[in-house]
Amino acid sequence: MNIVVGNVKGGVGKTTTAVYLAVAAAVRGRGPVVLVDSDPQGSAAEWLEQAPVEGVELIEAPSERTVIRALAASEGVTVVDTPPGDERIVRAALRRADAVVIPTRAGGVEPSRVLTTLEMTPEDIACGIVVCAARLGTNDLEATVEDWSTAKVPVWGIIPERVGIAAGPAARIYREGLEAYQDVLRRAMRAGAR
Ligand SMILES: Nc1ncnc2c1ncn2[C@@H]1O[C@H](COP(=O)(O)OP(=O)(O)OP(=O)(O)O)[C@@H](O)[C@H]1O
Ligand SMILES: [Mg+2]
Repeated sequence: MNIVVGNVKGGVGKTTTAVYLAVAAAVRGRGPVVLVDSDPQGSAAEWLEQAPVEGVELIEAPSERTVIRALAASEGVTVVDTPPGDERIVRAALRRADAVVIPTRAGGVEPSRVLTTLEMTPEDIACGIVVCAARLGTNDLEATVEDWSTAKVPVWGIIPERVGIAAGPAARIYREGLEAYQDVLRRAMRAGAR
């Protein structure tokens, strides 16, 4: 099962989502879990180097060629972090996905970038949104969730804004975040298995 985390917009929560999903898959404990870092910035790789996660193997694949190779060889659960800028890498990963997780934020200019990402994904591949760093109980968040359900794009998760998640590799995996991402993983795997 290849789960690709992508959004052409930068700084929305792709790397955080990819790392947490990989940890969630490792906790689930069935089969090998690989985190593929296809972003030449290497933030997911740096995260795992600084704070290794038992049961998660890291593969750095910062080019179209290497990401294609990493995804062709995959077994178990493979989670791919993608760069914000490099369309060729993103497209190569999206084309080989069983499920695409699109991190976004509430409000603002976010929807157009999500739609661009959806358009880059082949039609038969399951896609779902994760609202990252969400301020629970705000009108902005409510409106965002409503807009996506009107647009018939499933929302697979709402991840609250937490200092413990923002700390990244400098802190432990944050329990509340992990639980929220475990739900996202379940939804993505169910959708991707169809
Ligand atoms: N649930 C959250 N609560 C608080 N901060 C968060 C949360 N999720 C992500 N962030 C923060 O948002 C910022 C962007 O996250 P991240 O690096 O995962 O995004 P990205 O899409 O991978 O960025 P880039 O496009 O640069 O690769 C980071 O500072 C991260 O710590
Ligand atoms: Mg990133």
